[in-house]
Amino acid sequence: MQDTGSFPNTRLRRLRAQSNIRNLVQNIHLDLSKLVLPLFVRHGVAIKKPIESMPGHYQLSLDLLEKEIIEISNLGIQNIILFGIPESKDAFGSDCSIIRDAIKTIKKLNPKLLVIADVCLCEYTDHGHCGVITNSNNNFTVENDPTLKLLAQQAVIYAEAGADIVAPSANMDGMVGAIRAGLDKAGYTNLPILSYAVKYSSAMYGPFRQAAEGAPQFGDRSSYQMNYANSNEALRECSLDIREGADMLMVKPAHTYLDIIKLVKQEFPYMPLAAYHTSGEFACLKAASEKGWINEQQSVTEVLTAIHRAGADFIITYYAKELALWTQGKS
Ligand code: PBG
Ligand code: ZN
Repeated sequence: MQDTGSFPNTRLRRLRAQSNIRNLVQNIHLDLSKLVLPLFVRHGVAIKKPIESMPGHYQLSLDLLEKEIIEISNLGIQNIILFGIPESKDAFGSDCSIIRDAIKTIKKLNPKLLVIADVCLCEYTDHGHCGVITNSNNNFTVENDPTLKLLAQQAVIYAEAGADIVAPSANMDGMVGAIRAGLDKAGYTNLPILSYAVKYSSAMYGPFRQAAEGAPQFGDRSSYQMNYANSNEALRECSLDIREGADMLMVKPAHTYLDIIKLVKQEFPYMPLAAYHTSGEFACLKAASEKGWINEQQSVTEVLTAIHRAGADFIITYYAKELALWTQGKS
């Protein structure tokens, strides 16, 4: 580092002494255009089912989306990502119509709201895995290549419904390439792919699996999601996905993966990078706040700013609504 002075000529506290100077020299800014709110949409009518481990979040039936979208839009939230709870599940995750219909409904209500569609099978498969399963003598394998075609089909369905971005989260090798080819063939050459390129097998997805009712019925996801004790793979995953046509990359989880976010941003500075502040990370902050053990606004602002500072250009967070209220000084 170059010489930036020495005491007593240099006193760093001069620029910290008053808030207007602190604001002037601050270089990291969180704003709503950088936040993406996840929403859970379910089958049925007039259902607003609270998600126990995620206070403030609900499974919403399609007919209740209007009120929610108005609220979100009034708060100034500009981006959402959708997850679906279908009426029926099968071995191949064929029925993703709930998200197709949700996209159409939301786009009618507010065409300007950016809609990201998560592309995966686990919400729609009866076994809860992100790919198709084969079983030989009770040895289950999540099959990579047969899953690719299904992911591409799902992405095309969301593209047709009007999604602005598709975000594959299945951790299958080759999924970005398969989806890119499927979209291009269907005429959606301009639809961007946000790849969950660096997605770890994490305990921090617990509340989400309750929320999306997509927990694996047997085994876990460690044969396809990444091992958090292996940092070498992160850059290989990114580089493969870029070659396959990913427009944006993601690191997930976020709070305890700041090193990975920084590494990916340093190696691929021109790739837009998202970070997913996951359900478990949300739940930790929420629970401690509810107990009065931490100050919620200060803690959440600090954590999300740190994720941005580490190199994430935008953040998927269950705290988007609170952030909107806080930044408008309404709370
Ligand atoms: C589905 C998916 C998951 C999340 C996003 N997409 C769960 C998982 O992989 O088990 C996690 C989100 C969260 O915990 O907030 N593939
Ligand atoms: Zn999945």
